[in-house]
This record gives sequence, structure tokens and C-alpha cells, in this order.
Amino acid sequence: MAVVAHISDLHVGALAFRPELLVKVINEVNEMNPDVTILTGDLTENGYYMEFEKVAEYIDTIDTPLLAIPGNHDARHVGDQCFSDIIKRRCRTLDLKDKGIKVIGLDSSEPDLDYGKVGRAQQEFMEKELKEAQDHDLYKIIALHHHIIPVPKTGRERNVLSDAGDILQSIIDGGANLVLSGHKHMPHVWMMGETTFATAGTASSLKLRGKTFPSYNTINIDEDTIEIILRGTDGKQITLAKYDNTCR
Ligand SMILES: [Fe+2]
Ligand SMILES: [Fe+2]
Repeated sequence: MAVVAHISDLHVGALAFRPELLVKVINEVNEMNPDVTILTGDLTENGYYMEFEKVAEYIDTIDTPLLAIPGNHDARHVGDQCFSDIIKRRCRTLDLKDKGIKVIGLDSSEPDLDYGKVGRAQQEFMEKELKEAQDHDLYKIIALHHHIIPVPKTGRERNVLSDAGDILQSIIDGGANLVLSGHKHMPHVWMMGETTFATAGTASSLKLRGKTFPSYNTINIDEDTIEIILRGTDGKQITLAKYDNTCR
């Protein structure tokens, strides 16, 4: 049915940013030609205008439909305004009706804070979009920077959404099929009810935990199954999970 490329935590501007990795990832994705590429935040390290300009140069070379949302690092130093100014292709939802998919992007960042919050206005927006997608029998993907369910092997939990419980309830009630996040730089997949929650690692930085490596995910969605594949920038490929795709 569809292929999704999920890239996160570029951290352009960080000392640990590796531009050659980002170029490699973008080249691979363009070659793969997925139906959509989703960037789940921390595109920059500090939210500086110049960093966003650099990010824009990179993501302008992505050939596929794209949805980019901000992370906590992007909201530093009034970066939330720079994000809106420069990341032109940012949008809240992306309808891929020919593929039967709707992507709903949420901004979970708060200015100058590391923790995340979706907030009631966006929660209502998401509920409305999920209902509309359900009415049109679309596959429903939610993208946000902060994880909603804690991620293993990431130390003490500090940055889960402050309204995680409410958002999780709306996601499950709204029958979302797939939720994509970043933030912890730790690839992982949870399944709750019939919703798959996939977090991606950092695609192009060495801000790594333990023995993890820079990576991104691709997701193959078909009528019967969903498969999440971790792709290391060193060429390593690991199937993170494969589930029956029943929630439609
Ligand atoms: Fe990050
Ligand atoms: Fe983050």
C-alpha cells in the first residue's frame, strides 16, 4: 500500500552533527522513493535562524512529499518562529488520498523547554482529523517529536509529554494506525491495542546512547501487515517489528 521514510533528530548545528550522514540518508531515501518522508523534529541543535537555513538546504533535496514538525531543540532561542519562516513545506496534515493515507503532524515543543506538550487545542484538532480520516477509510499516521510511551534504555524518564495520558487516549480512541516520534535517539517500537508506536534514532548526529548508531526507519504498510525497518547509516538493516495491520 505505501512506504514511509521516518527521519528524526538531524541536529544541524551541533558539534556532533555529521553532514555526510544526512546527505547519505537523503540520497538513500530519494533512491527508495517512498510515498512520504516524515521528519519528527530536532532538525536543528539550537533553533538558530542560520541553522534552519542550513536545514532548508538539505530538506529541499528530498524529492518525496514531506512533513516536518519541530522538536524541543527547534524551539530554543525563538526557534519556533524561525521554523515557521524557513521550513516552508511544514504543514499540519498531509493527505495522500491516492495512497489512502493521512498524516497528522503535531507540534509538541514548548519554547525553551525540553519537555513536550500537545495541548488541548491540538488534541481537539487531532481528534477531528482522525475522525475525518476514519470516515474516509484512510490509514492514519500521527507524527510528533516527543514520545508518548517511555522508551527503554534511555535512562531516567524526564521528557515524556506532560499530557501523554490524554493524548494516548485520543490516539487509541481515534483508531490511529501509526504514531511516529523521535527525541530519545533510540529506535523502538511499541504496540498498544491496534496502534503501532515507532520512535526513530538520530539520523545524522553522534548524539548516541550506548552502542546505538545513527539511523532512520522505513515503514512498509500493506493491507495485512506493517513492518518497521531500522536502517543504520553504515548500511545495517534490522527489522524492528512486523505486525498484522488490523486497525482500519
Ligand atoms: Fe534530539
Ligand atoms: Fe528532542
